[in-house]
Amino acid sequence: PKLIVVTREGEEREIDGQTGLSVMEVIRDAGIDEILALCGGCCSCATCHVHIDPEFAAKLPKMSEDENDLLDSSSERDANSRLSCQVQMTDDLDGLRVTIAAED
Ligand code: FES
Repeated sequence: PKLIVVTREGEEREIDGQTGLSVMEVIRDAGIDEILALCGGCCSCATCHVHIDPEFAAKLPKMSEDENDLLDSSSERDANSRLSCQVQMTDDLDGLRVTIAAED
């Protein structure tokens, strides 16, 4: 599935994502280093914060309480915020567009 990433500089990159990987892993593997992912994807650092295109909101997995709490610690949180390590790529999400959140 295709993933479209908008970097903090506003540059748009189209990446071929792999099903089963998280959005965070796909972004990182593409060499985009704006996602620090300090905790390696175990939902405890919030440095993989992205804003997801609202069009895809209904297709996303539900947010866990941990993810919700962590996002609350970010001043950049908005209604479309997710932690990208908590969203797995699926064929359903083909064309998903995410914007890397500004640094806190
Ligand atoms: Fe740490 Fe996502 S990589 S919360």
